[in-house]
Amino acid sequence: MEPEQVPPAPRRPRTEARDLERYAALFAARTRQMRSSAMRNMMSIATRPEVISLAGGLPDTSTFPADLFEEIAAGIAADGLAGALQYGPTEGLDGLREAIPEVMAREGTGAEPEDVTVTTGGQQALDLVTRALVDPGDVLLCDAPTYPGALPTFAAYQADVIQVECDSEGMRTDLLEQTLTELEAGGKRPKFIYSVPTFQNPGGITLSLERRRQMVEIARRFEILVVEDNPYGLLRFEGDPLPSLYSIDGGGFVVYVGTFSKIVAAGLRLGWVVAPPPVRQKIVLGKQAADLCTSNLVQEFALRFLQSGRFDEYVDGLREVYRSRRDAMLGAIAEYFPHGADWSRPEGGLFVWATLPEVIDTGDLLAKALGENVAFVPGAEAFVDGRGTNSMRLNFSGVPEERIIEGVRRIGRLADRMLGLYETIANTAELPLPGGPVEKERRKAG
Ligand SMILES: Cc1ncc(COP(=O)(O)O)c(C=O)c1O
Repeated sequence: MEPEQVPPAPRRPRTEARDLERYAALFAARTRQMRSSAMRNMMSIATRPEVISLAGGLPDTSTFPADLFEEIAAGIAADGLAGALQYGPTEGLDGLREAIPEVMAREGTGAEPEDVTVTTGGQQALDLVTRALVDPGDVLLCDAPTYPGALPTFAAYQADVIQVECDSEGMRTDLLEQTLTELEAGGKRPKFIYSVPTFQNPGGITLSLERRRQMVEIARRFEILVVEDNPYGLLRFEGDPLPSLYSIDGGGFVVYVGTFSKIVAAGLRLGWVVAPPPVRQKIVLGKQAADLCTSNLVQEFALRFLQSGRFDEYVDGLREVYRSRRDAMLGAIAEYFPHGADWSRPEGGLFVWATLPEVIDTGDLLAKALGENVAFVPGAEAFVDGRGTNSMRLNFSGVPEERIIEGVRRIGRLADRMLGLYETIANTAELPLPGGPVEKERRKAG
């Protein structure tokens, strides 16, 4: 029998400001602090083919071996389909929980499978850890600058974020200790220190061995946790690997967050968190509420990839690609960025952090750069306190070398023009001169 036809309800007009007012009373207080990530907002622009995007943190997925993809998919179809299409345990599939410590062991970090919780990307791990530990108004400490994508998570749980300055050796542990002492004197005990110690996003810097030891020692002394977020450790192009904070600590005060996004594929949305049992239990409860479990299909895919024996070869290939892209970017910055600019020289990872003369606001520069089809992340996105306005994060993993060079050239030219304009005004108004193109020409001329 044909179902009875019900005429569709008239289409409501799209949401307008008036409508928003109507919903306002319904929103939870926490939504007032929720902030959008600039990178997410920019995704729609940055993925246009004509745009050279140095904005995202996109890994290069073009080298993933298609034959292996087919083989794994066919293998799942042949002998694992029913399980792959089923719900799974909240903690993750046993096989993958056992394989993850083997991935961590490649950087010399030991972990127990029962301490591992598989998550829907590293981002969910950050969300679940924050959900488990943070009440509104609780203090969190993190690097300055920090991973821009962590800030919306911290804001969603109404955390009070304090950023501790970094230099070329990572977070300044003297300032960390000082901040904790001051907070303690004011009766405040932060919940955790969030750190990306290796090839940091966005700074490209790596926390030195001595500071790693100090950070763990400080966390123990003040009895707070460190959340170590390590998506990039395996992407080292040069230099000696450093022990993770987790391995220095032995897993008492450090919660370790990992992800397959940058070493297998971001589209899998697969990460993990290793935490001491009491914290892990709360994380698992949070994950039950969030999404019950991470996709079995995706976990099965990753497990078979790890078992294929081609994981190391794949990561080696990525390292090669990224090393030469980093070199292309550093070379182009040295050639095209104005005098007075400074930038990091990362030994691995995906990002360079560049700082321009103070008179350049990289938010304004971005608006101009988008007009010339280049995108980057303005530095202010990596801070909660208004710092970083003359800095920018540049990604070198997602774009081939010629496009990196062209993108940097366009940004450099725009920065030069902005400085030139400033110089003209400054000359008239007798303001101090930053290093700009006019000055550069003067210097060249001797
Ligand atoms: C430091 C850091 N943490 C977490 C993430 C999120 O990773 P995932 O793609 O696994 O959610 C990223 C992604 O760029 C990152 O750079």
